[in-house]
Amino acid sequence: IYEAQVDSLMNLMTLEEKIGQTVMYGGGWDKTGPFVDTDFEKYIKQGSVGAMLNVYTAKATRDLQKIAIEETRLGIPLLFGYDVIHGHRTIFPINLGLAASWDPNLVEQSSRIATEEASAEGLHWTFAPMLDIARDPRWGRISEGAGEDVYLTSIMAKAYVKGFQGDDLSKHNTILACAKHFVGYGAAQAGRDYHTVNMGEDELRNVYLPPFKAAVDAGVETFMTAFNELNGVPASGNKYIFRDILRGEWDFKGFVVSDYTAINEMIPHGFATDSTDAARLGMLAGTDMDMMGHVYRLHLKELIAAGKIDLELVEASCRKILLAKFKLGLFDDPYRYSDEARQRETIYKPEFLKAAHEAAAASSVLLQNNNNALPLDKTKTIALIGPLAKDEYHINGNWGGAGDRKGKSVSIYEGLQEYLKSNQIIYAKGCDIVADDDTGFQDAINAAKQADVVLLVMGEDHGMSGEAASRTNLKIPGIQPKLIKKIREAVPNKKIVLLLMNGRPLNLSEEVDEVDAILEAWFPGTMGGNGVTDVLFGAYNPSGKLTVTFPRNVGQVPIYYNMKNTGRPIPEANPKEDYKSNYIDVQNTPLFAFGHGLSYTTFNYSDLQLSASQIGVGDTLTATATISNTGNYDGHEVVQLYIHDKFGSITRPVKELKGFQKLFLKKGESKTVTFTITVEDLKYYNNEHKFDVEPGEFEIAIAPSSDFTFKNTFILTD
Ligand code: IFM
Repeated sequence: IYEAQVDSLMNLMTLEEKIGQTVMYGGGWDKTGPFVDTDFEKYIKQGSVGAMLNVYTAKATRDLQKIAIEETRLGIPLLFGYDVIHGHRTIFPINLGLAASWDPNLVEQSSRIATEEASAEGLHWTFAPMLDIARDPRWGRISEGAGEDVYLTSIMAKAYVKGFQGDDLSKHNTILACAKHFVGYGAAQAGRDYHTVNMGEDELRNVYLPPFKAAVDAGVETFMTAFNELNGVPASGNKYIFRDILRGEWDFKGFVVSDYTAINEMIPHGFATDSTDAARLGMLAGTDMDMMGHVYRLHLKELIAAGKIDLELVEASCRKILLAKFKLGLFDDPYRYSDEARQRETIYKPEFLKAAHEAAAASSVLLQNNNNALPLDKTKTIALIGPLAKDEYHINGNWGGAGDRKGKSVSIYEGLQEYLKSNQIIYAKGCDIVADDDTGFQDAINAAKQADVVLLVMGEDHGMSGEAASRTNLKIPGIQPKLIKKIREAVPNKKIVLLLMNGRPLNLSEEVDEVDAILEAWFPGTMGGNGVTDVLFGAYNPSGKLTVTFPRNVGQVPIYYNMKNTGRPIPEANPKEDYKSNYIDVQNTPLFAFGHGLSYTTFNYSDLQLSASQIGVGDTLTATATISNTGNYDGHEVVQLYIHDKFGSITRPVKELKGFQKLFLKKGESKTVTFTITVEDLKYYNNEHKFDVEPGEFEIAIAPSSDFTFKNTFILTD
């Protein structure tokens, strides 16, 4: 509906002004990359800037918008973008934690709240959701996505887009979402950030692309290029993925922004010869906006003059960016998002904090609970030990938006105070997260000896995950593991609970033998202390389940549940058999499988029934099972549906998640869960790169995690 308005505006614009729309600069409030030039106000006045990043608050955005409106020839409003990743002011658990809730409504609600806050602070656009499938815990950015699974990430993709964009972008409390990073970024070799990616069409189309397609189907308005090269072609210059797949096959109509200086980075990649060439390759590939690189501002005009790119390409990019501004209503009122009164009323609203509190509880995953060490008893004394026990800084996690890291976030210690009198908490820090100083060990041991139960709050520094935060060692960092051992030696018969905050799967192989219970809290956000202590004391029965595999050691990486079978799979009866696909020093199985997560109650799965043993291409199969709460607590259970396509023109994974439902069951209650499977669920990109179904035998199961053996099959006929 805005096409005519865009056309009339374009008719008034000079080439320089059109190029200006394709340029994004940063205000430097946050450092999310290097600076090429800092004089952004000068460029705004010249009409050479279309969008700004890393500037927020109603006042700061209003001030810059005023320059664009009042001091440029055509007064075209700026677009303000920011990394609103898992909250803006009110910070929710990191995205890997949110995914562990297996609750798309919660994900949508968290991004809706983030949008309420961000849009009240002048922001029009978030660089989220991150939809990179991540199967390598060495990669720090594994914390920002939904984990290793294609189906789950695709479901979450839709929830995020809906939360950010709502159903009407013209409302002042909706913002543009950005599906990133297109594509393959999670497959960086050896988990090293920005590293090379090589993958075939099978993996690209069946694993890495589907979540992005889901975002397009959900109406996502923008895409971001990835930093990596894909099969020798850097993503920002990759015509195949942007022009052929995204726009050609998927008919995406929105605009594409480069990642931060990613167009320039095609030079060190060895793909562009200089910055002019980089600008040419970026534009040819379909990267509409240059984030922070200055190469479009500097070179597009000369490239057009030299006939190296067509004017129409730049005009098409400009048109898409203007269209987004029209959709947001910025031409009606460029200041509609920069409203200080709305900002004051909106940020940290009590209901937002309540939602963040509930999300922290729902995202926590109970990995182990020997001897029913959890829930804790309110009448006992607790030795609270560890570098993260009183922390209110790291608890917000990486990409913590504009969330205040001091004075707002609730630490675990503060959360415990809601449940215990102060003389019931014996605190000792013990050690730092990474520093090698063990002088606090003795105090920690003394505390453990005095208390009834030991609660260790340990994990990573928030900067150890996220961008440019890859690790080769997946252990709990520093001397924290040593402290755990010392405490176990000092109190061999006491219950020890390990509460973890971290942004990736860790190698907990030693800790599982040292402690009784392990609660994975990720970085739980502003209200983390309250949400997580609700779980510790049983006010919330844990219901989170892993969306990423926890390995036994780093040598197993990459390890994920839906691997291929190989020609020499290990026999269940003898996993160590020679000349099979196994290790000689460690099992193939992970420490904690995808989908794993305990509850304070127990659930029994029985009576799997299929509506037919054979279906045709037009038919629907119904799978039902009975789930019973057989323990002593009411609780939620994430029920998972898996299939295995036994034979394909391309080999198929041993298991694929195809559905899930989160049920609430009172103790003693049973429910029937029903999944409907259509041919669409069985399709994949085959050896002809066609998304199609292949008749044959399928295995099927309804299970509490990916750690099971199939017992049922059905046949799909022609
Ligand atoms: O949005 C991010 C991206 O994910 C990584 N590089 C910086 C961008 C902007 O901050």
